[in-house]
Amino acid sequence: MTLRPRVLSGVQPTGSLHLGNWLGAIRNWVQLQDSHDTFFCVVDLHAITVPHDPALLAEATRRTAALYLACGIDPQRSTVFVQSQVPAHSELTWLLNCVTPLNWLERMIQFKEKARKQGDNVSVGLLDYPVLMAADILLYDADLVPVGEDQKQHLELARDIAQQRINARFAPEDQPLLKVPEPLILAEGARVMSLIDGRCKMSKSEPNEGSRLHLLDPPELITRKIKRAKTDPVMGLEFGNPERPEADNLLGLFALLSGKTRDTAAAECAAMGWGQFKPLLAEAAVAALQPLQERYAEIRRDEAYLSEVLREGKERAAAVATATLERVKAALGFLPAA
Ligand code: TRP
Repeated sequence: MTLRPRVLSGVQPTGSLHLGNWLGAIRNWVQLQDSHDTFFCVVDLHAITVPHDPALLAEATRRTAALYLACGIDPQRSTVFVQSQVPAHSELTWLLNCVTPLNWLERMIQFKEKARKQGDNVSVGLLDYPVLMAADILLYDADLVPVGEDQKQHLELARDIAQQRINARFAPEDQPLLKVPEPLILAEGARVMSLIDGRCKMSKSEPNEGSRLHLLDPPELITRKIKRAKTDPVMGLEFGNPERPEADNLLGLFALLSGKTRDTAAAECAAMGWGQFKPLLAEAAVAALQPLQERYAEIRRDEAYLSEVLREGKERAAAVATATLERVKAALGFLPAA
């Protein structure tokens, strides 16, 4: 058997997955299963880096895992697991914490933005978020990490920690301890923007729910959100006009959801007013999400199955992660357990 390059990625179980998570990330993971050795985790430890509600965390974690499966992640071909169930993630984070310079974390853009929003209620965990993410990746010797624009800096940090702070200090040059991962920058469709502001990314943390379509939104809600989506006074949909970010975003969504090429979609909608375009977009969104929602409902009718998928995933993940952790601990000089 030839060794396939390994891919690892994860999504936080906060709120509900939306169209940006699907079109920008998970849909591409599904394709990678044919050519790569794929690990997908639900990063629940990351979800508590901002204040969270304990009553919702477990259900959000199961929902996220079930949505992975509903989107087409196949547990026969991928390792699907919950981050907190593999203790090596927390343990490697500590080891990496002790070699990561504080100022590398203080300059992370996402930290600065989130910290600004939270005033003086910022946890050490929020600052440490990228080190936990580095541990997620490095534990699995991942070759490639599919990341969007907003996570590139975190991946860069994981590479720097592996290379400069672990391999350079604790391993002989020809036998690196940790694999240095490469980003896998995904093609078109990777950036889905907000429905209420075509210049901002569709995001879970935006308070206005009308800014995004959740994968589990019922058809009426999808239609209503699209009806209310921001427009502009210009007639006709088009790509690439910097004055018209909403037109660009919604036309792009229409192409992705209807399975048409961008050229076909652009030609079809070039002369349409918003009033004619929006129902078409709503119809395409409802039709694209329906099979996914049906599969999700089916998966949630059999909780024992989902538990079994996660149990098996945890075992496969832990076998790989524990071996890496032991390797690092040995190199750092820890006393082996008897
Ligand atoms: N920080 C990532 C995000 O918000 C989620 C994440 C956590 C992740 N650990 C990861 C992504 C490891 C890729 C690999 O999108």
